[in-house]
Amino acid sequence: DASDIEKGTYPHYMLKEIDEQPLAIRKIIQEYQDKDGKLTIDPAIVEAVNAADRLYIVAAGTSYHAGLLGKQFIEKLAKIPVEVHVASEFGYNMPMLSEKPLFIFITQSGETADSRAVLVQVKEMGYPTLTITNVPGSTLSREADHTLLLYAGPEIAVASTKAYTSQMAVLSILAEVMAKSKGYDVDLDLIHELGIIANAMEVIFEDKEELEAIAKEYLETSRNAFFIGRGIDYYVGLEGALKLKEISYIQAEGFAGGELKHGTIALIEDGTPIIALATQESVNLSIRGNVKEVVARGANPCIISMKGLEMDGDRYIVPAVHDLLTPLISVVPLQLIAYYAALHRGCDVDKPRNLAKSVTVE
Ligand code: G6P
Repeated sequence: DASDIEKGTYPHYMLKEIDEQPLAIRKIIQEYQDKDGKLTIDPAIVEAVNAADRLYIVAAGTSYHAGLLGKQFIEKLAKIPVEVHVASEFGYNMPMLSEKPLFIFITQSGETADSRAVLVQVKEMGYPTLTITNVPGSTLSREADHTLLLYAGPEIAVASTKAYTSQMAVLSILAEVMAKSKGYDVDLDLIHELGIIANAMEVIFEDKEELEAIAKEYLETSRNAFFIGRGIDYYVGLEGALKLKEISYIQAEGFAGGELKHGTIALIEDGTPIIALATQESVNLSIRGNVKEVVARGANPCIISMKGLEMDGDRYIVPAVHDLLTPLISVVPLQLIAYYAALHRGCDVDKPRNLAKSVTVE
């Protein structure tokens, strides 16, 4: 219950929950480790996933964005095909299903009605189900065949932060455990890399003043903002845009860097903020090319890059982490920028207008 959870010295739950992310990651590492120090998940889940020929991730909002990255982790490491669907659309646009689908519901609250409707529907069709949730005993946990918990502790702020990074951490563990169960060589020491991520988050927290300055400079008075990225940075941009619009009411959109020129670039005016993510070596030059295109049309660029890939003029540089796991780090400055933007615009950070923490109507 929200009233039982103390904010302590924090002015807002959102800031507290952003700060709890390293703790949440370390807790996940601990909860998903066996006594020999190896990552492990319920063998019944490994069996269910191994029996499936395709995974269908169903989720809403921020959890959907975590699903988009979960697909990357699972396909790259475990080589299982994954589709990701918005829960509210699933009923109308039911994809053509494979022979042996497994449905994975990602939901912080475990109560989202749109996601539950899909669960009920696919259960009736006789398909196996797994819920990834922060809330033990929640509706979607009880009604699915299997559950993986996030162990992130209660999330009170409407804008989801620690649940998102925890969802990605658990999805990466699922991907790694599945890869190993299939006998693939996994060129990734996930426990070690997640530990690096927890530490890197703490390094970013030391830069709060800097991130607040960025929020003021780019977003205090702007009408809109665009987040661009390529590859997995694109999905993080979607989440960065969602965070910003949810709590600051700035119209914010995330786009794939290369897609801008096919329409959205028409919106660029003098001073339009463009937040560009550059954490992937393979697209580092091409995303910077996209930044040049918008700068030529007057945009005000804020490049967020990663140590080792940085170039002159980058506005913020996150510590280096494994290139598949950069979303767990690159989202943190975006969360803080959204937080400070909302704060400086006088918005109610924890309880934004028109939104509810868990939406139990379809
Ligand atoms: C609501 C919240 C979002 C959240 C979404 C899905 O719309 O405002 O922050 O991402 O529901 O919630 P869930 O609990 O299913 O992850």
